[in-house]
Amino acid sequence: MPQTLSAPGLTTGRAPFVEEARNRGELYIRQAYELYSEANHESWRLLFARIRPRWEMYANDQFLRGIEALNLPPDRVPRLDEINARLRPLTGFQARAVSGYVPGFLFFDCLRRREFPTTITIRPADRTDYLPEPDVFHDVAGHVPMHTERAFADTLVRFGDCAHTAVELTSGIRDQGERNRRLTNIIKAMSRFFWFTVEFGLMRGGPRGICAYGSGLLSSYGELEHAIEAEETQRYPVRMEWLINQGAEIDRYQPLLFIVDSFDHLFDLVDRLERWMREGKLDNVAPGLPEVNPGDLQSFLDAAE
Ligand SMILES: [Fe+2]
Repeated sequence: MPQTLSAPGLTTGRAPFVEEARNRGELYIRQAYELYSEANHESWRLLFARIRPRWEMYANDQFLRGIEALNLPPDRVPRLDEINARLRPLTGFQARAVSGYVPGFLFFDCLRRREFPTTITIRPADRTDYLPEPDVFHDVAGHVPMHTERAFADTLVRFGDCAHTAVELTSGIRDQGERNRRLTNIIKAMSRFFWFTVEFGLMRGGPRGICAYGSGLLSSYGELEHAIEAEETQRYPVRMEWLINQGAEIDRYQPLLFIVDSFDHLFDLVDRLERWMREGKLDNVAPGLPEVNPGDLQSFLDAAE
């Protein structure tokens, strides 16, 4: 049967293939490329064409080189196999299709294995601005090009190490309440760190003196410009003690962004994050977003078993 513009295909929130896998408890799935509808490819085309000039203006150099190196197609949803064939020789990373949200520890542990959990569904073409959850454009056009950069890729692996350290540091705590409290604080600190760097990070450099490397920025036509150009956006050199205590904004453009000097700087910061964790400095961070959901906490508890 020919697919029409109204076929659900692999549209965010309307993808039976993905929802059924999730209901069966399957985390890793195949990309099921044949299921993408013409409308799905059209979404990709629109998103890609619209944001491309902004990448030229606001993205860090390595991201732009990554787009080229991976040969991201402008006119259709990319095949993860094709991306991975180009990515693997560069940093050992690969994009791995998942059915949905990956609980905290499992997510970080994937990064440690140089696997990036990748959403395969795509937002509807008439809702290109609003992104209620990650989709393949965010994950593949926003995240994956950064995985071509050695120091950045190594940074993600170090996040995975941090998750293991969190388990190691808390698994011996007898008092279950205290153990959960400590873990929840550590997970919150790690999530904030990830949020303000990998998702929304800025870096010195580029034609405007500051450029974006965070994937939440690089996959958002509106927020990418806002992050760099808007007068009201606060941009400060990254400071660990601030970042791990700073609540994140989920539903609107970030009012506050942090700047790193380089990818090596970012890598050193994750080293420091782990050191602070060992010193107990992440055990009692300021309350606020993101909330640590029970599934995230449980994933860390399960890892200790
Ligand atoms: Fe993301």
